[in-house]
Amino acid sequence: MRAVSVNEFTGAQLRRLCAAIGLAHRAEEAQAVLADVLGPTGTRSLAEPPPWGSDIADDHSPVEYSVAFEEDGSHTLRLLVEAGAYKPGPRANLAAALAALDRLADRYPVALDKLDRVRDLFLPDDPQGLFALWFSIVVRGDRPPMVKIYLNPLVRGADRADELVATGLDRLGFTGSFDWISRHTPRGEAGLDQFSFFALDLEETEAARVKLYQSHYRAGARDAQLAAGATEAADTDRIAEFTSMVGGDGPFLSRPLVSSHTFLASDSARPKGYSLYVPVRDYVHDDAEALTRVRAMLTRYGVDDSALRRAVRAVTDRDLESGVGLLAHVSLRMGPPRPGVTVYLSAEAYEVAPRGASAPRARPDPRGDAQDPGSTTSGCWKEEGAPTTCR
Ligand code: TRP
Repeated sequence: MRAVSVNEFTGAQLRRLCAAIGLAHRAEEAQAVLADVLGPTGTRSLAEPPPWGSDIADDHSPVEYSVAFEEDGSHTLRLLVEAGAYKPGPRANLAAALAALDRLADRYPVALDKLDRVRDLFLPDDPQGLFALWFSIVVRGDRPPMVKIYLNPLVRGADRADELVATGLDRLGFTGSFDWISRHTPRGEAGLDQFSFFALDLEETEAARVKLYQSHYRAGARDAQLAAGATEAADTDRIAEFTSMVGGDGPFLSRPLVSSHTFLASDSARPKGYSLYVPVRDYVHDDAEALTRVRAMLTRYGVDDSALRRAVRAVTDRDLESGVGLLAHVSLRMGPPRPGVTVYLSAEAYEVAPRGASAPRARPDPRGDAQDPGSTTSGCWKEEGAPTTCR
């Protein structure tokens, strides 16, 4: 029997997902865009090991799905995608991603002005770190797909991350924001609050955003509350409640809590919105437990959880107790453009992590004094002053 390709596998998931959350009329277009962005990596057979240790997902699938529950009861589907060269590597993948961006620009009105202002900072000839350029494809019912890109603050090494982020924010009109954010994430100097993504919406509207993400290593809900204090939108009680409903009591010593600050067209340099991402998969035994927790949280916030159950079943038909990591992160958004909850679902194209796997696979420890007994793939990678990253 001929082995299934990445495109075939993710294309089928995507069609089912669209149907599950009221986006069936967008399925065909979404599938075409996904294959287009994946590029040569999409034609790879899933019978072969992943050609590149993509950090999009734990099993190195180059795609991750997320479903956002909007206030009006509708859903937005997002695809996080890494374009890959047929012979992947840091430079080859960046070239593949830039080629994918060109193809997207032929298809949609993609606004490149923001990227052009920071390109020389974030897209060097010899990218370091786990990626240089990722895509997010946003699929909504009422408009054509929108594209967002993720840049890597660590692309010139961890010791230059602050400089890249500060300069990037200044050039985009958010002058002074770096200091403001830093004041609310005071563990940066110890390497415990670390910039992880610098994201740009590539649409030409007032709603186009710049998002700055930070990973909070060895953190508790209090660190997220402090970070959220950089925005007026912060509802600190809700942050504490959400964190414990989804992740438990903490402290979060395995995968980090992640914050993002959203900057909108620069009427003010201060961030307007805040989101918190809880890596639920590291703090549950299996996906059945993860789903139970997330459903309880949705119910608490008055969100109908039936779409989530359908979305989970669209991605996989496996027994949820048999593995962990299908529900990867859960996020809470506060402030404009809209508040809401988003659930991130792994494609599991290559592998399902065994249940109970996440606890011993203790991940990055910035001071390098944690053991990593479970990491067998390609080991750990450490940059001066940065958290160790294990694949
Ligand atoms: N897989 C990586 C991680 O879990 C990157 C990533 C994918 C991520 N989707 C995310 C990080 C959502 C935060 C939120 O860290």
